[in-house]
Amino acid sequence: MKPPSSINGQTRFVAVLGHPIAHTASPAMHNAAFDALGMNWRYLALDVDPARLGPALRGLALCGFVGVNCTIPHKRIAFREADCLDSSARIAEAANTLVFRLRRGTPFLHGYSTDGYGILAALREEFGFHPKGRAVAILGCGGAGQSAAIQFALAGAKRLILLNRTRAKALAVARRVRALRPRVECLLDPTPCDLLVQGTSLGLRKDDRCPLDASLLAKLDPCCFLEMIYRPAETPALRLARRRGCRVANGLSMLLHQGARAFEIWTNRRAPVETMRRALRREVYGR
Ligand SMILES: NC(=O)c1ccc[n+]([C@@H]2O[C@H](COP(=O)([O-])OP(=O)(O)OC[C@H]3O[C@@H](n4cnc5c(N)ncnc54)[C@H](OP(=O)(O)O)[C@@H]3O)[C@@H](O)[C@H]2O)c1
Repeated sequence: MKPPSSINGQTRFVAVLGHPIAHTASPAMHNAAFDALGMNWRYLALDVDPARLGPALRGLALCGFVGVNCTIPHKRIAFREADCLDSSARIAEAANTLVFRLRRGTPFLHGYSTDGYGILAALREEFGFHPKGRAVAILGCGGAGQSAAIQFALAGAKRLILLNRTRAKALAVARRVRALRPRVECLLDPTPCDLLVQGTSLGLRKDDRCPLDASLLAKLDPCCFLEMIYRPAETPALRLARRRGCRVANGLSMLLHQGARAFEIWTNRRAPVETMRRALRREVYGR
């Protein structure tokens, strides 16, 4: 393994905060980008108790950190802690990227969400897909599913099919979508679509049941299937969709592009996306 670049008094810091955080692949991706551009920056991973996120963020700002990423379960808390929100965070009602400033010595937190950008960039890259005028089904209306639904609605999707174990949550997402874009048709039962996004957490663990079955897939009949999970590389749902003849992709490029956008927000430099992709693949799949 390549030794980390040296840290000195001019090193600038960013970090990802989560709980737990041991699994994160983001440091590999960002540190590879800093190295490739010859930047004296380092990206750390910090395990922070959600109850202490507010003081932790302000403490890091006081220590001179440029900003942070927030991952599960911190995105909603970061949204509430931010002093100012970019429209991306306001729309998502979550912040996964913060930029810190000091105003007369007091921390000032500017919140963004790069998740919406990440999923649209991943769909363009993997399938040449844009939601405008299309029907998209989302299986799983948790944080990631809701954020995707809103992004698709804002990007001009014609119809959203919102499927969730807890139907009330799918209904709540439909209400939010309609409030933002009244012309988007929201359905809560399966009907044919162009793209299916798998956004439940089923598939993360080896013994998880498959969130899809052949009959549901036949009713949805998508051309493209995006699995949000990237570890393992192939979930049972992705395998099923592939066998049915769908074009399939897992969530690695979503992760890559949300990270690339955060990199650009912090540094004002174009992210070296291919370097970041290679580092991410090496970190997650060992190749
Ligand atoms: N690639 C990326 O960059 C990226 C980014 C974000 C998230 N993700 C992945 O997306 C997935 C969802 O993340 P999240 O943040 O939305 O999590 P979350 O807010 O906890 O939502 C979990 C979702 O999974 C559903 N679910 C959980 N257990 C289930 C079960 N036994 N049967 C049926 N449905 C079940 C939940 O349904 P209920 O509402 O009924 O509980 C909910 O829709 C995770 O696997 C995460 O790793 C990937």
